[in-house]
Amino acid sequence: MLQPLSREHMSGLVQARSLAAAANEPPIERRAALARFASVWDEEIVEHFLDEERMLAPLLSTESMSRLLAEHRQLRLLAERAIAQAMSADPDADLMRVLGVALHDHIRWEEREAFNEAERAATDGDLQRLAADAAAIERDRPGSRPRLRL
Ligand SMILES: [Fe+2]
Ligand SMILES: [Fe+2]
Repeated sequence: MLQPLSREHMSGLVQARSLAAAANEPPIERRAALARFASVWDEEIVEHFLDEERMLAPLLSTESMSRLLAEHRQLRLLAERAIAQAMSADPDADLMRVLGVALHDHIRWEEREAFNEAERAATDGDLQRLAADAAAIERDRPGSRPRLRL
């Protein structure tokens, strides 16, 4: 039921690695990585965060939900600053590294802990609601679809 979000985590991890790797490259490579990140951010990650905040809120402990919201807030600030540098003569390599690591660690935590916690807590009613949410996400965002259906 959270599979569409997990499939989007694959492209999130690709972006996280790309930002961190490009941080060690010349400005032209950094600008290219930031431009790719900006399009994935706008087309997928912004909505992904909102879906998680809505879908997981009734299922996670207060502690886990606070962590999820705090990390989303931090990632939004970092992403906004990084995207603003996509056309800069010399994009901030440290910022790209920090964003790449933060995005990677956030996704790993969701996959290893938060999603499992949510699935354990879900009642039958929750599962029905999540299945409907998952179908809507798969309909609206190509990267969330099972690969065979692409
Ligand atoms: Fe998240
Ligand atoms: Fe996520």
